[in-house]
Amino acid sequence: MFVSRVKVYKFRNLADQQVELSPGAVFITGLNGNGKTNLLEGIYLLTGSRSFRTNSSAELARFGDRECSIFGSVTHKSGTEELGLIFTPGERAAQLNGNPLPSITELLGRLRAVAFSPADLQLAKGAPAGRRKFLDRHMVDLQPGYLSTLMAYQRALASKSALLKQQGTSYQQLLPWNEVLAEHGGKIVDNRLNFIRSLSDKAASFHHEYAPTDGDLVLSLDSDLVREGSSSTEVILEQLERASQREIALRSPLVGPHRDDLKISIGGVDCRAYASQGQTRSVVLSMKLGVIELIESLTGEAPVVLLDDVDSELDAGRSERLFTALLSKPRQIIVTGTAAPSEKFAQVPNLQVLRVERGVVAVSQ
Ligand SMILES: Nc1ncnc2c1ncn2[C@@H]1O[C@H](COP(=O)(O)OP(=O)(O)OP(=O)(O)O)[C@@H](O)[C@H]1O
Ligand SMILES: [Mg+2]
Repeated sequence: MFVSRVKVYKFRNLADQQVELSPGAVFITGLNGNGKTNLLEGIYLLTGSRSFRTNSSAELARFGDRECSIFGSVTHKSGTEELGLIFTPGERAAQLNGNPLPSITELLGRLRAVAFSPADLQLAKGAPAGRRKFLDRHMVDLQPGYLSTLMAYQRALASKSALLKQQGTSYQQLLPWNEVLAEHGGKIVDNRLNFIRSLSDKAASFHHEYAPTDGDLVLSLDSDLVREGSSSTEVILEQLERASQREIALRSPLVGPHRDDLKISIGGVDCRAYASQGQTRSVVLSMKLGVIELIESLTGEAPVVLLDDVDSELDAGRSERLFTALLSKPRQIIVTGTAAPSEKFAQVPNLQVLRVERGVVAVSQ
């Protein structure tokens, strides 16, 4: 699939404009602070996910404005759709072909994109929440129905947390929430296990090409529930019951998929704690490439690949291997950089080069 056109209104520093994009490789160049990442972010937002650089929609409207919108034409195997997003204070509204959608979640799965940004290096070494977000975000992309399970779990968890914060909560009061948590929690864990199993193989094969001397990459789910061997509702409920005295004492929900982590090991060593900078980069790139492959194999369509400033983060060898892998199949790849495109990328036939200057995007001569 590819984005053929994007229109932005009052979005960040970008001038109100329409940008035509090539279905193949696009290089967005320009000096620091001119709006390259903003343009990439605008395209990414059309997936229906939160931005890769902020959770706050309030930042998106141009300074001094309170509203902004982004529209994009997305072509996939079953045709072309016009996706639209309108951000107003406290609200995100979505449109499909000019008609309002009941919820922004209805956009999910229409434009699939995998973004690489410098912040992604945190994926391997940062807090578990970032890894859970990575898993859930791509799982929702592949299976939009998974979102309702996640949301039902989150709602029940918020209610249980509120109860636990009160003095003198009893297990009987927690039980109705634990029943809901056990049901949805089991589904979340099963889905994560399946996703990670497929992803681990794909990521490992890329990793083997990139960093053959680092050892084999293995991804697995680090979950209280899996440790106990089963994710059936009854077994989870028992685990929650056993944890309840501790939960009541500590006034916090201690067991469940909201505490899951993605374990990343290379050569049998836990990458989260021990990997070097270079090893971390190879692992993160392999995970992302694994996601791209997985989306392709499950949907029969390539996601749009968005690379923000990768050259600044990668040495020449890794960057060359990354582009070789990405360019090995027809895909839309949109890359930003301050310098000229890397040698490998510059050789791509029909490369489109766009230049961003103070928020205005123009085709580069
Ligand atoms: N809501 C907003 N309204 C107006 N300008 C904004 C807004 N948000 C960010 N900016 C401005 O946009 C510019 C940053 O744009 P962007 O991050 O896209 O730059 P870039 O071209 O990717 O730069 P670099 O090469 O340094 O990564 C900054 O000058 C920032 O102040
Ligand atoms: Mg940038």
